[in-house]
Amino acid sequence: MELREGQVAVVTGAASGIGLAMARRFAAQGLKVVLADVEEGALHKAADELVAEGATLLARTVDVSDRDSVLALADAAYDAFGAVHVLCNNAGVGSGAEGRMWEHEPNDWAWAFAVNVWGVFHGIQAFVPRMIASGEPGHVVNTSSGDGGIAPLPTASVYAVTKAAVVTMTESLYAHLKAENAPVGASVLFPGPHMLRTGLWESHRNRPERYAKERPRRTPYRSLGQWETAMREAGREVEFTPVEEVAAFVVDGIRAGRFWLLPASDHSDRQILARSRSMLDRSAPDYLENFILD
Ligand SMILES: NC(=O)c1ccc[n+]([C@@H]2O[C@H](COP(=O)([O-])OP(=O)(O)OC[C@H]3O[C@@H](n4cnc5c(N)ncnc54)[C@H](O)[C@@H]3O)[C@@H](O)[C@H]2O)c1
Repeated sequence: MELREGQVAVVTGAASGIGLAMARRFAAQGLKVVLADVEEGALHKAADELVAEGATLLARTVDVSDRDSVLALADAAYDAFGAVHVLCNNAGVGSGAEGRMWEHEPNDWAWAFAVNVWGVFHGIQAFVPRMIASGEPGHVVNTSSGDGGIAPLPTASVYAVTKAAVVTMTESLYAHLKAENAPVGASVLFPGPHMLRTGLWESHRNRPERYAKERPRRTPYRSLGQWETAMREAGREVEFTPVEEVAAFVVDGIRAGRFWLLPASDHSDRQILARSRSMLDRSAPDYLENFILD
């Protein structure tokens, strides 16, 4: 779709990282932006920054895992601006699960699913019917990850399962929009192609009491900096993609109507081929990598 000045973009998880970069990019293109995030302090700081840069915006404290909270966000967005053209279901968390799958706490699964899967579904339900009814061009971008969206990192498997669900949900959404001849498109985003310096490694900062861990972690949470040091000490080079590059890639992808917002990467292509080959050969998934959180 064409992106024009005066259109409206809603971004969840907009207080930090990729979400903030997307909101900033939309604002720089002249769109009005609705920033939604559960972390109130960070949200207001982000909103102040964007306003100082000239953005027209609405900032709302929203918990995407709570259906009513997302429905209220949609009401607020339409009350403020009268339309929504772009919806980025981007809020997401790492699960904090440790060890083998049979050792995981059910609350690690419940929390990650509540935000990463139900959060996307709530966004679709709250916004898409009104976007279709408006008859105006629109676009939905759901944030997945190479971890799960392409193939799981078995050491971050809960997260991977949620991100695989986001791909399947977005493929289905695409088919449903097409079946309706809706003027609304859909894309699934794989941020990258490299690692990103965002708050994802500190996701536990936003973990609500209702999904609290039932037992203390065996090992402390590892920060991105600690992981980076460990990788370098193990002789593995770590590359980073700036969040601004991801945001520019999303804007280009919306303009071009691209479904797979999957940046060019030999590594991703090898994973896709290995997985497809394994399925076509009916052979075991021995291509899976085991390095990231070990
Ligand atoms: N950082 C990476 O390497 C990477 C890679 C692939 C995919 N992703 C995905 O990108 C998206 C953005 O993550 P990021 O890396 O920018 O991390 P981030 O932590 O910097 O940003 C995520 C934002 O989501 C918000 N959030 C968390 N729970 C929420 C909830 N219940 N309701 C509303 N907002 C909530 C957080 O407060 C935060 O502002 C996520 O979906 C993440 O899974 C990140």
